[in-house]
Amino acid sequence: MTTPTITMPPGLARRRIEQLGDRVRLCDVYDEHGAPIYHDLAANDGFEVQEIVRAVRAVPGAVLDLAAGSGRFTFPLLALGRPVTALDLSEDMLGLLRGRLRAAPARLRAGCTVVHADMAGFDLGTSFPTIVLGTTSLSLLDSAGRRRLFRSVAEHLAPGGQFLFTVLERGDAAGPDEQVDRVAGLSGTRYDVHDHWPAGAASRVVTIIPAEPAPGPVYACTDVVGITDVAAAEQELAEVSLRITERRSLTPSANRHHVTLLKAVHAG
Ligand SMILES: C[S@@+](CC[C@H](N)C(=O)[O-])C[C@H]1O[C@@H](n2cnc3c(N)ncnc32)[C@H](O)[C@@H]1O
Repeated sequence: MTTPTITMPPGLARRRIEQLGDRVRLCDVYDEHGAPIYHDLAANDGFEVQEIVRAVRAVPGAVLDLAAGSGRFTFPLLALGRPVTALDLSEDMLGLLRGRLRAAPARLRAGCTVVHADMAGFDLGTSFPTIVLGTTSLSLLDSAGRRRLFRSVAEHLAPGGQFLFTVLERGDAAGPDEQVDRVAGLSGTRYDVHDHWPAGAASRVVTIIPAEPAPGPVYACTDVVGITDVAAAEQELAEVSLRITERRSLTPSANRHHVTLLKAVHAG
């Protein structure tokens, strides 16, 4: 994975980092220091999982789990009895996934193929009845990356197959620029998750800082994340002859984080 540029986040996250002083090590959310923190939070977060699993059930056969991370969707899909190809760009996230697979029952382990690749342009030499891109990870790509992603999806989607993905839009135009949520990970560690997203901005900054850091170095993970919307995705999908056929709000539309689950299929 190319080393991402890590920059000091703005706003309240910056203020907190400055308070903590030289104990702070800024890191990326998916690098060797950030990945265990992201996984701790993800492992305690069931958002989207039930909806994705339900949608996958509608079409039999293998699943390609894009931006699979440590396997938040991969394991429930393997538990359905589906062969799953889990693709991710971060070796650190895939290391966590491989560790979880080693500890899993043999029948789950046997169903999983782990692939280190960029979702913005991949060639797996096979097709899948279902391709999943959850956790609004579409926003990790810029528009050129999304176009390459959608082309790869079109090339890998079997006839009659479904592409399931989620999109994050801001539903509260009048809300504050920054929101801080205190969230517990599976370990019990609590984190302050800063979302710096002025309405109308071209990107947002997500920063995760331990709420009650122990003595010693404090890892603060931060990422600049793109903004996309359903209309833009729909247009980009049409360029590769994919058509959205179903859309379902997973959160109230006036929420700061309005998430929509979409299903796209080959057009025509
Ligand atoms: C928000 S996490 C989602 C992980 C997992 N699906 C989950 O729900 O916990 C985003 C994941 O996308 C991966 N990622 C970021 N850019 C990527 C890219 N260009 N290609 C593939 N994976 C990427 C990160 O390494 C990370 O594991």
